[in-house]
Amino acid sequence: MPIEQNRMMKMLLHLVFYLWDTNKANSERISKPNMVLIMADDLGIGDLGCYGNKTLRTPNIDKLAKEGVTFTQHIAASPLCTPSRAAFLTGRYPVRSGMAAFQRIGVFIFSASSGGLPAEEITFAKLLKQEGYSTALIGKWHLGLNCDTTDDFCHHPLSHGFDYFYGCIMTNLRDCKPGHGSVFDKGIQMYVFPTLQITGIALITLESLHYIGLLRVPCRAHRYFFLVAAILFGLLLFFFHNIRYLNCFLMRNHQIIQQPLNYKNLTQRLTEEATKFIKRNTDSPFLLFVSYLQVHTALYASQNFTGKSKHGLYGDAVEEMDWSVGQILSVLDKQRLREKTLVYFTSDQGAHIEEISSTGKVQGGYNGIYKGGKATNWEGGIRVPGLLRWTEVIQPNTSIDEPTSSMDIFPTIVNLAGAPLPKDRIIDGHDLMPLLQGKILQAEHEFLFHYCNAYLNAVRWHPGNSDTIWKVFFFTPNFNPEGSDGCFESHVCFCHGSFVTHHDPPLLFDLSKDPRETNPLTPETEPRFYEILEVIKQAVNNHTKSLRAVSSQLSLGNVLWKPWLQSCCSSFFQFCYCDSDSDRR
Ligand SMILES: *[C@@H]1O[C@H](CO)[C@@H](O)[C@H](O)[C@H]1NC(C)=O
Ligand SMILES: *[C@@H]1O[C@H](CO)[C@@H](O)[C@H](O)[C@H]1NC(C)=O
Ligand SMILES: *[C@@H]1O[C@H](CO)[C@@H](O)[C@H](O)[C@H]1NC(C)=O
Ligand SMILES: *[C@@H]1O[C@H](CO)[C@@H](O)[C@H](O)[C@H]1NC(C)=O
Ligand SMILES: *[C@@H]1O[C@H](CO)[C@@H](O)[C@H](O)[C@H]1NC(C)=O
Repeated sequence: MPIEQNRMMKMLLHLVFYLWDTNKANSERISKPNMVLIMADDLGIGDLGCYGNKTLRTPNIDKLAKEGVTFTQHIAASPLCTPSRAAFLTGRYPVRSGMAAFQRIGVFIFSASSGGLPAEEITFAKLLKQEGYSTALIGKWHLGLNCDTTDDFCHHPLSHGFDYFYGCIMTNLRDCKPGHGSVFDKGIQMYVFPTLQITGIALITLESLHYIGLLRVPCRAHRYFFLVAAILFGLLLFFFHNIRYLNCFLMRNHQIIQQPLNYKNLTQRLTEEATKFIKRNTDSPFLLFVSYLQVHTALYASQNFTGKSKHGLYGDAVEEMDWSVGQILSVLDKQRLREKTLVYFTSDQGAHIEEISSTGKVQGGYNGIYKGGKATNWEGGIRVPGLLRWTEVIQPNTSIDEPTSSMDIFPTIVNLAGAPLPKDRIIDGHDLMPLLQGKILQAEHEFLFHYCNAYLNAVRWHPGNSDTIWKVFFFTPNFNPEGSDGCFESHVCFCHGSFVTHHDPPLLFDLSKDPRETNPLTPETEPRFYEILEVIKQAVNNHTKSLRAVSSQLSLGNVLWKPWLQSCCSSFFQFCYCDSDSDRR
């Protein structure tokens, strides 16, 4: 009998242990999934089949939507690349990290500038790496490179938690691709040419006055003046002519492997890097951030996609990116990683509707029914695609209309990885899991603050136990030409001064009834008008009080080109040229 009892006890113990073990295995699978985060650049919500596009073919992204959750009110933390990406990686409003500009230029425009994501900021990559994840960034960074020397890499992805980096420090730019125009053209037309004209006229006047004897200028003086002006002009021309070498290069980790960037098979190379990374890490948890250079201009597509879409080169680029997403998903399947991998897809902001080529071709995307686009806080600038798939954990083929933010990914994946959230700072995102698993029905964002650079532009209020979404604007961009839907004359909308109109009282919209933001409410049409504004004013006060003074990473001094920070993979006399990446396929 005692022997029997003993056996029974042992069996029970085994059973308990077995149950605990499988439970643990289960919860481990659920608590440490792989993360594949995919971000497109300047892709509009109206460009994808799963958001209603009928003519652009995005079957792979549409399939991802079918297999997961589609967010219909997914909000980018900023309508511009640099601040939006800073917020995505840190889960915080860009003003908190100094990644929002007080001056006109809101993004980094030179690889050799000193601003960037500060070392004190904590990215999700850093936290996941501490939890044993392998981490990689494939594609665009746009959050700075160096601080003081060409190799301190203080802002580089590898200094922010990524183990592996293959891609561009800067952004894709028209200037990176010969024949695709220049984003500096407008600036040169507006500032450099007038300055040159004035200098020229001054010189001719001086010369004439000297010649007819009305003015005695020492001969040498105006010759030197002339020489200095000519040299400056030459340098400027040389600089903008060669911007491609200075700004557009491909890196693997800390090393430049292609300068200038070559567009041939570029998306294929990025895809190959992404799939290889997955294959190298099938046995350990990994975080893969695929940050496409598409579909920002300069537009490009490989041979298999060129001329195939119904929407010109822009459509070709979208379709190639979709192909790439398909390749990544298929590798996950082949490696049997589908169940334990969370896949997220988004765009850093809305489509850049002012992108029209010099020959008049539309090269920007489509923001669906929404007003405005990139660089504005109209819905077209910030309401972006948001897809999340995690089979077996998240219900497939569902959609969530609650307001969610790209900043929510930070706490969501940090919690799932089992890392503690930073306690010493405010995280503005909210964990999406309770909403995704139906544990709560209303998103935790009662208020979302929409900044235009460092200026508070608009606020979204989703009152508790209600379907209503209010949105107020303190100012709106002045569209030009008047009556258009964007800032076509300046190529991009700006955030202050004569570029905007301030509203007092603020403009109020009911987004739940008026998603196109066409009918501002008045005290007559909305009896609670002042009541609503009062609550929003309080929320703004509370939010503003939570901000700490930080040094601006996008001050003019931090954005300007600093020759001593210029990265160059060969000697100056070889014009910063090298290529060890083109012919590897
Ligand atoms: C699909 O996207 C293209 C490219 O942005 C756009 O021109 C077109 O209007 C969109 N079509 C629909 C039906 O949304
Ligand atoms: C691009 O890839 C295709 C298919 O792999 C190949 O045939 C072609 O030669 C590649 N082009 C370049 C420029 O490497
Ligand atoms: C290009 O398309 C053809 C036909 O669909 C396909 O067989 C080939 O693998 C594709 N090439 C690349 C590099 O994707
Ligand atoms: C997905 O949802 C849509 C709309 O709710 C429905 O029409 C469709 O049949 C669903 N598809 C699948 C594969 O469940
Ligand atoms: C602002 O903060 C105060 C104090 O914490 C709080 O009572 C109030 O509800 C907040 N107001 C809003 C609109 O968030």
